Amino acid sequence: MDKLVIEGGKPLSGTIVIQGAKNAALPILAASLLAEGTTTIDHVPDLLDIDVMLNILRELGCRAEHVGGTVVLDTETAHTSHVPESLMRQMRSSIFLMGPLLARFGETQVYQPGGCAIGERKIDLHLEGLKALGADIEEIGNRIICRADKLRGADIHLSFPSVGATENIMMAAALAEGRTTISNAAREPEIQDLQHFLNAMGAKIMGAGTDTITVDGVQSLTPCRYKVIPDRIVAGTIMVAAAATRGQVTLLNTQPAHLSSLIHVLRRAGVQIVVDGDIIKVGCATRPKAVERIVTSPYPAFPTDLQSQLMVLLTLADGVSILKETIFEGRLKHVDELSRMGADIRVDMNAAFIRGVPRLYGATVEATDLRAGAALVIAGLAAQGKTVVEQIHHIDRGYEKIETMLSRLGARISRYAPVPNN
Ligand code: EPZ
Repeated sequence: MDKLVIEGGKPLSGTIVIQGAKNAALPILAASLLAEGTTTIDHVPDLLDIDVMLNILRELGCRAEHVGGTVVLDTETAHTSHVPESLMRQMRSSIFLMGPLLARFGETQVYQPGGCAIGERKIDLHLEGLKALGADIEEIGNRIICRADKLRGADIHLSFPSVGATENIMMAAALAEGRTTISNAAREPEIQDLQHFLNAMGAKIMGAGTDTITVDGVQSLTPCRYKVIPDRIVAGTIMVAAAATRGQVTLLNTQPAHLSSLIHVLRRAGVQIVVDGDIIKVGCATRPKAVERIVTSPYPAFPTDLQSQLMVLLTLADGVSILKETIFEGRLKHVDELSRMGADIRVDMNAAFIRGVPRLYGATVEATDLRAGAALVIAGLAAQGKTVVEQIHHIDRGYEKIETMLSRLGARISRYAPVPNN
């Protein structure tokens, strides 16, 4: 397995262009199945998760090319709606293929995606939503067989504003008969991007970004060309890395409105943030201040996907901060690794009590999930000495060549692939 080697202690500086959003591109690629023909999607990042999604679409019979950030996807030749278990297990978010496959083929067979390092990742809300639209769902072991001669609009209330469930229901409802309303819907920017994409294909969807989404089903959808929004989590990761290394970084191609909760927290920590259109400038010349209490919650509150990264900054802040994770029950695994680098963190249930220390020290650490891995890279950049981050395939799921991106900002970071012992 590849590893990253980082020589810490050097402030990041320079300018970086933010990649397209993984968590917008994935549902949009799945939604492309709703229209027969060739859809073109721009600003799609070159990531492991995108590769997995494209391989699943090819397995279903589509033709897919991903060149220079643009995906050209011909769904005309899609001939099956059964997603192989081996591919389902590679990426749990392939569960939101259910909606488009059910809407297009009238039936689909997928597999329980299973949990991951950050939590159980249940899919009950997805299944309840599809049943409300008229689907018959049978679970045989970990196989899920879903059938619907005709999907019909329904009033659906989500007991939790699940991002994936909101997306699955939107995609299935787009071709259902009649009106569907989704109340207590997720409000993330990626949901808004999916609505814009589906409407560009001829769907009639309103309300994404609020807690109530309305979908008026249409007979058919047509392929289109669409550009994906910038990745707010990658942008937020770079912003925290700039602050944690006491650097000065300019981010281009951002949507600052998608980052308002992080900007607010960083300013409370004493980080200088200047917003100018789609440009964000981040600077931190002095030791950051502790932030008394941050709680991760659904958008527009502080995102769970930036919790581990922010924690690194707080380990170096002046004072005690409290960071509470309420979305995923297993998303504090990076605490042990940060403690090995000299951080002073105590965990009680789902809250981390972080007492700032003067510095972190390089160590060999292991990425346990995508964002925890990114946090360990930030810690390595800020630490004194050398850090080796292992299991970095987790990081490659969401960050395009992270070592190249950070080297461009002056980081001393290299990727090492193991020499095959032939
Ligand atoms: C999406 O996951 C993102 N992934 C996650 O990003 C992100 O952390 C998460 O939303 C929350 O913002 C993609 O968009 C591909 P959820 P998703 O359904 O859709 C529970 C990253 O790092 N739940 O909002 O799986 C679930 O167990 C990834 O890029 C149910 O109980 O998130 C979890 O505790 C990680 N039943 C909570 O809701 C369900 O049917 C949030 O899940 C569905 C979810």
